[in-house]
Amino acid sequence: MNRKFLLVALVISGFVVYLSGCSKESEDKLSGSTTCDTTKVSYAQQIVPILQNNCYTCHGGANPSTGIRLDTYANLQVFANNGFLSAAVEHTGTVTPMPYGLPQLPTCEVNTIAAWVNQGALNN
Ligand code: HEC
Repeated sequence: MNRKFLLVALVISGFVVYLSGCSKESEDKLSGSTTCDTTKVSYAQQIVPILQNNCYTCHGGANPSTGIRLDTYANLQVFANNGFLSAAVEHTGTVTPMPYGLPQLPTCEVNTIAAWVNQGALNN
């Protein structure tokens, strides 16, 4: 009788541990995917790497094929201030969606660019 009770208790506690392990894991996954700090976006540390990886191939160099150069702060600032940069990466408005012919950037990168623009598109 006692043994049976112990066995049942063991099975139940094992199951509880198993379940809480699962929910812990999914919590970790969730918090991992929502870690996107846009409170104070840095041009040099956050914006440049995103554009380097996704935009400079077409919008960089002395003679960009599209005539739109985004690899200097001064040039990028123009498109940040006229709203084209945010609209292009957010796929909103009448601006051609960017990156051109490619899937939209990950949500965190889109939000980071939009936040940088909203924070004044600083050269920080
Ligand atoms: C494969 C080449 C390519 C890539 C990569 C690319 N663009 Fe473009 N981009 C273009 C072309 C071509 C145009 C002109 C589109 C048009 O006139 O319809 C353009 C236009 C733009 C414009 C002006 C939009 C308008 O409607 O006037 C902005 C802003 C822009 N790109 C930003 C970006 C940003 C930011 C990235 C990276 C996230 C990016 N582009 C990646 C080719 C590219």
